[in-house]
Amino acid sequence: MRDVRTYPDANSLARAAADHFAAVAASSIAARGHFSVALAGGSTPIPVYKLLVTSESASQLDWSSVHVFWGDERCVPPDHPDSNYGMAREALLDHVPLAAANVHRIRGEIEPLQAAAEYERTLRQFFSPAHKGAPITFDLALLGMGTDGHTASLFLGSELLKEESRWVAAHHADEARGWRITLTPPAINAARHATFLVSGPDKAETLRSVLTDPRQPDLLPAQIVELTSGNVLWLLDSAAAALL
Ligand code: 6PG
Repeated sequence: MRDVRTYPDANSLARAAADHFAAVAASSIAARGHFSVALAGGSTPIPVYKLLVTSESASQLDWSSVHVFWGDERCVPPDHPDSNYGMAREALLDHVPLAAANVHRIRGEIEPLQAAAEYERTLRQFFSPAHKGAPITFDLALLGMGTDGHTASLFLGSELLKEESRWVAAHHADEARGWRITLTPPAINAARHATFLVSGPDKAETLRSVLTDPRQPDLLPAQIVELTSGNVLWLLDSAAAALL
């Protein structure tokens, strides 16, 4: 199941996304004492992260109970302009009272296979310290969608689209011109909430295909996101939703 909500422009989309983030955080903390979120990379989330610093809804957030992860990372150092961690640090993490121990970044600066193995250990330690096999349940997976329909770093035709056991993988994506570390479909689909943020006219045609064409994740990787339990929420601006 999915829930598609459209907003007039990028600013109202960002405000809605920040309010949604704050609401899921508050309900997760009330229910389980903490909120675990896998942040999206790219550029669309930047105004959302900035609003989480200044907005009324986020001002009530108990950041001491928030744990921040990433849905994917480019294999670059944290201070590199392409770093998803670096983007979130600049827009959000440096401006909220979040303990360093609650920031679980992917070390893009080390050898990719090592970085993936390390991040998988981090996730297993956080989500299932007691016993192997427990699912990884992010309270919220924030996701973007590329103009080619990729999400996280799950690209067209990737063998990772068929991954069933690993939670994290490293792979060299030609489209991304380099190595990436990404959550796999099992890790994303076990989340309690998954929310896509899609903005701009350049996404409209692909978004129409993803939301209305028959399921073909190899060609439209964003279609791989189907929560084990729960709805996928699509937060769009009217430019991206123009062909729906
Ligand atoms: C990344 C992202 C990726 C992104 C989309 C959309 O590391 O690039 O995780 O999946 O969300 O490419 O990017 P924009 O928001 O910049 O359009």
